[in-house]
Amino acid sequence: MNAITRCLDTYWSSSIGKKLIVAITGLVLVLFLGGHMTGNLLVFMGQEAFNDYAQLLHHLLHGAGIWIARIGLLVAVALHIAATIALTRQNKAARKAYEYQATIQASKSSRIMIWTGLTILAFVIYHLLHFTVRAGNEYNNPALYTDLAYKAATGDYRQNAWKMVIDGFSVWYVVLFYIVAMTMLCSHLSHGVGAIFQTLGLRSKKSASAIDLISKGYAAVIWIGFVSIPIAILCGYGR
Ligand code: HEM
Repeated sequence: MNAITRCLDTYWSSSIGKKLIVAITGLVLVLFLGGHMTGNLLVFMGQEAFNDYAQLLHHLLHGAGIWIARIGLLVAVALHIAATIALTRQNKAARKAYEYQATIQASKSSRIMIWTGLTILAFVIYHLLHFTVRAGNEYNNPALYTDLAYKAATGDYRQNAWKMVIDGFSVWYVVLFYIVAMTMLCSHLSHGVGAIFQTLGLRSKKSASAIDLISKGYAAVIWIGFVSIPIAILCGYGR
């Protein structure tokens, strides 16, 4: 075992090492969500603004940008889940005697972190198949999803991502699933953001209530921002 592997092994074996991995990867995902939500809200600025944004994402660094982001997100999600599982096992083994007390003191959102986390994972898999892989739908069909205004102006093809989102959320049960998943995400964030501050040593008795407020406020903004899109579309926006 060389020095780097030994160092990583020691880090992974310690409880604080794993907590830091959960916190740092959690922070990456929290920042991604803020960016993704802000970008998605461009759907309300109309077809041209949203398609310009989608095109920009796909062409950043000559197409390498989106792959760097995808790999970064995948690594963050994998480490977040692996460290959480390892930490839960370690804690269960070490704290059997305190389990009852810890459970009754914890808030509801912190007790259901595992379930909200698993729902988010299931949602992300569905979401990637829906809008990125575009499996089981026609969103990759140029006859149906070409941005015609862009083609008329430039002569080039680009996908009509705006129409894809409008059509994607024109089905009530898809919208319902998104709303349920966003609600789980909101619950996960309302505990998770505060836990990041705690692990990074940024939460004191004095700042605790402000951090709780930031945590719940951020979760609420993310919920409103994300669910506003499918709800508006189901109510007729863009159709
Ligand atoms: C109403 C809510 C949402 C909308 C309208 C939306 C929209 C989209 C769209 C259109 C894409 C495809 C981008 C492209 O390839 O052109 C996408 C990709 C993605 N979304 Fe969302 N999204 C929403 C919520 C979420 C949430 C809550 C998460 C995470 C929990 C998420 C995670 C992702 C990821 C990881 C990708 C893959 C990026 C890529 O590799 O292309 N999305 N989303």
